[in-house]
Amino acid sequence: MNPCAIKSVKRPADYQPYQGPQAELRSYGERLYKDTQLSSNGLSCESCHQGGKLFQASFAKAYPHQVAMANNQFGMSQVFLDEMVQICIVAPMAGKALGWESKELAALTTYVASLQKGFKPNPGATKNPCAAKSPCAAKNPCAAKSAPCAAR
Ligand code: HEC
Repeated sequence: MNPCAIKSVKRPADYQPYQGPQAELRSYGERLYKDTQLSSNGLSCESCHQGGKLFQASFAKAYPHQVAMANNQFGMSQVFLDEMVQICIVAPMAGKALGWESKELAALTTYVASLQKGFKPNPGATKNPCAAKSPCAAKNPCAAKSAPCAAR
């Protein structure tokens, strides 16, 4: 991962998230979650995390916490939720990080936080098919093989 990409997923020091009505941010975030325009490889968040499923057990923990992908690929020992959103855009979706103070980032973060509330880790659940060896390889490994996660 090049240093610019790493910088783009770390919260800037003087960061003031966009503020707005929660309900509006949540519904806008839900739309963005299904929007393939955020990626350069035809994937949306929904492609991998359908209906909020296929998150690993760590998703149940309060942020910031450790996520293996963030640690392995970006050297971040723990992440905030908005950083994790940026990481998924930049890495598996091969897209451009959102503006830190953008409405889009606030919306996606609000929506994913709402998914987190209803999330229960299920040890028997199928593992994220994209979590295989190198989820963040420059070219999306899932898209490459037209893996199940890329199915619509
Ligand atoms: C190509 C598949 C893929 C896409 C597309 C994708 N992600 Fe992820 N995401 C992963 C993988 C792999 C992980 C790391 C392991 C896990 O939690 O499943 C992850 C982790 C996460 C986590 C951290 C879960 C935790 O443990 O705290 C969040 C939050 C998340 N993604 C949100 C998103 C959002 C929002 C989008 C769209 C902007 C998105 N992801 C797009 C594959 C993907």
